[in-house]
Amino acid sequence: MAPDAPPVIDVDGLTRRFGQLTAVDGISFQVGRGEIFGFLGPNGAGKTTTINMLCTLLKPTSGRATLAGHDIAREQNAVRQSIGIVFQDPTLDEQLTACENLEFHAMLYNVPKAERQSRARRVLEMVGLTSRRHDRVETFSGGMRRRLEIARGLMHYPYVLFLDEPTLGLDPQTRSAIWEHVHELRLQYDITVFLTTHYMDEAENCDRIAIIDKGKIVALDTPGALKHEVGGDIITLRSTEAARLLEEIVEKFGLEATTATAPGDGGPAGERLHLEVPSGRTFLPRLFRELEGEILSVTVREPTLDDVFLRLTGRQIREETVDKKDAMKTRIRRRRRMVGH
Ligand SMILES: Nc1ncnc2c1ncn2[C@@H]1O[C@H](COP(=O)(O)OP(=O)(O)O)[C@@H](O)[C@H]1O
Ligand SMILES: [Mg+2]
Repeated sequence: MAPDAPPVIDVDGLTRRFGQLTAVDGISFQVGRGEIFGFLGPNGAGKTTTINMLCTLLKPTSGRATLAGHDIAREQNAVRQSIGIVFQDPTLDEQLTACENLEFHAMLYNVPKAERQSRARRVLEMVGLTSRRHDRVETFSGGMRRRLEIARGLMHYPYVLFLDEPTLGLDPQTRSAIWEHVHELRLQYDITVFLTTHYMDEAENCDRIAIIDKGKIVALDTPGALKHEVGGDIITLRSTEAARLLEEIVEKFGLEATTATAPGDGGPAGERLHLEVPSGRTFLPRLFRELEGEILSVTVREPTLDDVFLRLTGRQIREETVDKKDAMKTRIRRRRRMVGH
């Protein structure tokens, strides 16, 4: 972004309550032209609620936001004309073929006729559906529908593209193919991308990330800078007496340590304990020499975004998987809103 260019997305104190629950709690941030900006957070953090407000599908309780200079509450039509949205839930036409779905969408968005087919070909290739392009969507598996949905969102090159958990449940090859395409779009068309994810490695693709937890932004920076804040190396110990080890580590080394239980922990493999140290290599020998509690296994690695999240919230993102019932509820709510407008 040019230093004095106005932000494409400008959010100030945006808040949304549902009864007693504050789903999005006074968030503020700005996204510049051509930026890939990510919201990273566990299930229920408020990511979809934020996207829905920015896309004008949901009214904020308080606070304000503009998109391409248009107020999301007062200039809904102008905002909608500037955006493309890829949601998780299928809104494809079952009776049409893959190609027809794409071309129909391109037509709605005024993509020039001469370009419709070539774009369709390109995005189908990207999601690996070229050989099925003339088959009706009703014959597609769930995964194939998801891929087509994403392909469709990329057909018209919008000013701002919103992607809500775009690659949830997709295999790694498809995920990286989609990312390649997103990067390409940005290069060619200077498109601004706002996406949500709870995949750490996916967030690494973003220029900047806001880490969101319980409706609040707890950190906002480049992936590199966020990891740098953790600093040093991460040592993970497994022990059946993690709580006792934790006390011992705090006492003997003056280090902050956290325990984190992951699915399957607490069994014979014991509980996990995380330590941040300036250098794993020099610290480990000391640890073994001086620690009395029993250690079952040790790993040392460089920090990831998961460590950043753990440090900020005391929890791990991957503990919290997207609940099917929750996804269903979101889908129903969104459909109601779409009809309501
Ligand atoms: N329409 C709604 N009515 C009541 N609660 C809602 C509604 N939409 C979202 N929520 C709640 O708000 C919180 C944030 O939800 P959401 O934005 O979907 O989180 P995320 O997308 O990060 O998983 C959750 O606790 C969710 O159950
Ligand atoms: Mg969501």
